[in-house]
Amino acid sequence: MAEASSGKSNGAAPGTVNVGGRSYTVIDHEYDVVVVGAGGAGLRATLGMAEKGLKTACVTKVFPTRSHTVAAQGGISASLGNMGPDDWRWHMYDTVKGSDWLGDQDAIEYMVREAIPAIVELEHYGVPFSRTPEGKIYQRPFGGMTTEFGKGIAQRTCAAADRTGHAILHTLYQQSLKNHAEFFIEYFALDLIMDEAGVCRGVMAWNLDDGTIHRFRAHMVVLATGGYGRVYFTATSAHTCTGDGGAMALRAGLPIQDMEFIQFHPTGVYGAGCLITEGVRGEGGYVTNASGERFMERYAPSAKDLASRDVVSRSMTIEIREGRGCGPNKDYIELHVEHLDPKVIHERLPGIAETARIFAGVDVTRQPIPILPTCHYNMGGIPTNVHCEVVTVKDGDPNHVVPGLMAVGEAACVSVHGANRLGSNSLLDLVVFGRAAAIRAGKVLTPGEAHRQMPRAGEAAIARLDRLRHAAGGTGTAQLRNTMQRTMQNDCAVFRTQQSLDEGCAKMDKVFDGVADIRVKDRSMIWNSDLVETLEFENLIVQAQGTIRSAANRKESRGAHAREDYPERDDKEWMKHTVVWVEENGKTRIDYRPVSLQPMSNDVQSFPPKARVY
Ligand code: FUM
Repeated sequence: MAEASSGKSNGAAPGTVNVGGRSYTVIDHEYDVVVVGAGGAGLRATLGMAEKGLKTACVTKVFPTRSHTVAAQGGISASLGNMGPDDWRWHMYDTVKGSDWLGDQDAIEYMVREAIPAIVELEHYGVPFSRTPEGKIYQRPFGGMTTEFGKGIAQRTCAAADRTGHAILHTLYQQSLKNHAEFFIEYFALDLIMDEAGVCRGVMAWNLDDGTIHRFRAHMVVLATGGYGRVYFTATSAHTCTGDGGAMALRAGLPIQDMEFIQFHPTGVYGAGCLITEGVRGEGGYVTNASGERFMERYAPSAKDLASRDVVSRSMTIEIREGRGCGPNKDYIELHVEHLDPKVIHERLPGIAETARIFAGVDVTRQPIPILPTCHYNMGGIPTNVHCEVVTVKDGDPNHVVPGLMAVGEAACVSVHGANRLGSNSLLDLVVFGRAAAIRAGKVLTPGEAHRQMPRAGEAAIARLDRLRHAAGGTGTAQLRNTMQRTMQNDCAVFRTQQSLDEGCAKMDKVFDGVADIRVKDRSMIWNSDLVETLEFENLIVQAQGTIRSAANRKESRGAHAREDYPERDDKEWMKHTVVWVEENGKTRIDYRPVSLQPMSNDVQSFPPKARVY
């Protein structure tokens, strides 16, 4: 019987570690694989690993079905062709174009081809997709998804009404339990255990419920910790989206990649930031300015409201900046669904009707929804190869594999999304690469192999926890976090300039200066939210720094990185991935890795760069 662990499973033997005169109870565990994070990617990896007979633990700071994937609304892309002709090559072209030619074409080929079996598997696992009258999986149009290499609009996004993430997450959790994966729930992952040769040997975690520390030895650690959207003041991301895996990688001396590419979703509720799915526009919704004009016809004459997200967010921002915003302060845009048949809203978009009512006080059958672009997704993350193995730049090798460490989902940068992700390719990324990690681990690991014993492993992580727990400065975490979030929101937003970015970098350095004076009031080891928020803030700030420094360094516009002072894409100089190392004191080092224009299969056509118009 699988269990939700209280930390006493697997014959774990408690020991103690003393730090600064204080004693910490440490419980040891041994697994073939430890997955950190229980969102869509983490659960798909956990399930796949367990199915392969690998002894698998999933360590998660929230209950699995509360992970942020639960909030994914519109759907998951796959060229099933249920609603009309479709082809994975068209999906590949759209994804390469959507990425503004920063996505790696080998990884993109893998993702769009594997989309089809991966979705059929989800259906067989029990995901309750919406259905066509003939009983096939229902698919809706989404931005940037086309037929025949840009000629028509594709209906490619498989949906479970507007609660697709919820449906997938619950199914994957149930399947993981069925396959005897073990869950360590409400455990906060602290740091990776790395040996002197740079091999990952496990992970340290803190059990929030009883205050014990857990040392998980593993032959493979999979970081599936999601994005770091909470570096921004408004984000569709949950408050738990603090990029814990990226920060752990940085503290292990590894880089993070393409951090400057932040997706702003066009339709966040004005003032609240929460998501109104792009599926609304897929079902026929549209946006207007103060004079009721459907302005997307000017910016994207073919795709209009279904242009790629970066294009729609920029167009909305320009409308507002040029004085055509709605409302008394002319500072939002309106999204209309009043014209749709109420049956469509009831059957296909029930969640957004509720969200609009609660967060905007709007009855969507009669009134438009006030909206603004809102931070939604991080294209960047921990660099990996197509097998989900973490890579770094070492001794001139840009693809040096870090043994024992994988990353999947939004925490990772494979890179299939490049400079801009297409809507509904995120759930796909989670499922395809969660599954790919398990396929790889099934090949390279032998179940039950002995672990290298490193008796002092993890002591540095405990010392760090202890230092923060007893931080007695004069500045509260919330104050520093607020300055960081407002800096990102103002200086590293939809549009950027060298001046805004340089000012943002200077402000971010000041936030780092403030870290030395941080104050944690609660000294408890049990349910200490002050300490959790401080650990999360330490995770966020290094990624905020990586983001704004990488953005200041990239002197071109590409996808979501829109520089007003460098408005053109510059393939000669900048068709390369940024990799950035950030130290705990905020010092950064930047390097670059090549983009793969070569698909995985010899007989698959590569898509050379061209102008990106919709
Ligand atoms: O608009 C949405 O439903 C979001 C989907 C996504 O980010 O893939």
